Amino acid sequence: MKDYNIAVIPGDGIGIEVVDSAIKVLKHLCNNKDFNLNFTNFDWSSEYYFKNGIMMPKDGIRQLEEFDGIFLGAVGHPDIQDHVTLNGLLLPIRRAFDQYACVRPSVLYPGVETPIKGLKPYDVDFIVVRENTEGEYANVGGFQYENFPDEVAIQSAVFTRKGCERVIRYAFELAIKRNKKNHVTSITKSNAQGYSMTLWDRCFEDIKKEYPQISTNSLLIDAACMDFIRKPKDFDVVVASNLFGDILTDIGAIITGSMGLASSGNIDPSKNKPSMFEPTHGSAPDIVGKEISNPMAQILTAGIMLTHLGEESTGIELENAVKKVIELGETLTPDLGGNSKTNEVTEAIISNL
Ligand code: NAD
Ligand code: IPM
Ligand code: MN
Repeated sequence: MKDYNIAVIPGDGIGIEVVDSAIKVLKHLCNNKDFNLNFTNFDWSSEYYFKNGIMMPKDGIRQLEEFDGIFLGAVGHPDIQDHVTLNGLLLPIRRAFDQYACVRPSVLYPGVETPIKGLKPYDVDFIVVRENTEGEYANVGGFQYENFPDEVAIQSAVFTRKGCERVIRYAFELAIKRNKKNHVTSITKSNAQGYSMTLWDRCFEDIKKEYPQISTNSLLIDAACMDFIRKPKDFDVVVASNLFGDILTDIGAIITGSMGLASSGNIDPSKNKPSMFEPTHGSAPDIVGKEISNPMAQILTAGIMLTHLGEESTGIELENAVKKVIELGETLTPDLGGNSKTNEVTEAIISNL
């Protein structure tokens, strides 16, 4: 019997609600399998910050290191500046464990209403591979003359050849593995960012020569935002920098129905360190406590985790149960046009496993 040890960090807001739901589903799903998921809960969150002045203990990274995976809800609290919470927990974990490939699928499932007219199920079916350890999120910068009238803020983006090449290569490998349109789109803004983004473009030109069987194109981020809405059918694998990938994946989420369906994995492809699985959405303070958060993004994220752990067929089983509930259309939260509660959706998914 294989054992997978999973660190669970529910975090803040609806993160707590949807993680609770996903763990219930996982426990049912894995009841009769030839592997065990062992969950260890960590209360690292904004509440932890209110008590301790930090988001996680000083040796937090070391504590997580021994796990096979990290399952996180969301982080962010209206009473704490977001850069404090996120730079205290989420972003350091992504960097420390070299989770350089953030994979975010956008699939238009049957039964989901999209705001884009004329689309049929599966007309949207792409994955954004977001660089996840450097770029615009490198956390390099500072203030001068802080709080004086002449104040200056500098925030530097860091793009390395190694960092660009490895995530671009990951995108090509994924296109081959998917075997759908065999296409990779690279997104930059080289017309304005003449150093970082042209390095990315050169890396893309180099790497694509290694994959003659994969067609490619390059788009500027502004045009890409437009095309995600104008012709989302065109995309297969999309590779983008940290910030651009962040923005594009909220568009990907909403054109395929809801933030409540958008799954995500922060992957260390070498598997040397634990990868972290958290949905694309945040802590959603506007709906917290109303019992209407959609747990499907967190549950589909658990599917990505199972696949990464090597339990792909169980991951597919989980995705199919979610798809079934969506297609039946009887038990959906308000973001998908229904009036069911989080726990009712959870139970519906469990009964469709
Ligand atoms: P958000 O993703 O939390 O919410 C955006 C909108 O989508 C809201 O209207 C919300 O109600 C809705 N929504 C999100 N998830 C939903 C779900 N599962 N079911 C139903 N509706 C859902 O983004 P935001 O409001 O910009 O951010 C809120 C906080 O979360 C901020 O503090 C932000 O920094 C943080 N955040 C954290 C993460 C993370 O931990 N990975 C991701 C994004 C934002
Ligand atoms: C996401 C989130 C985070 C990001 C924030 C909360 C720092 O928006 O995971 O998409 O930008 O990476
Ligand atoms: Mn985001």
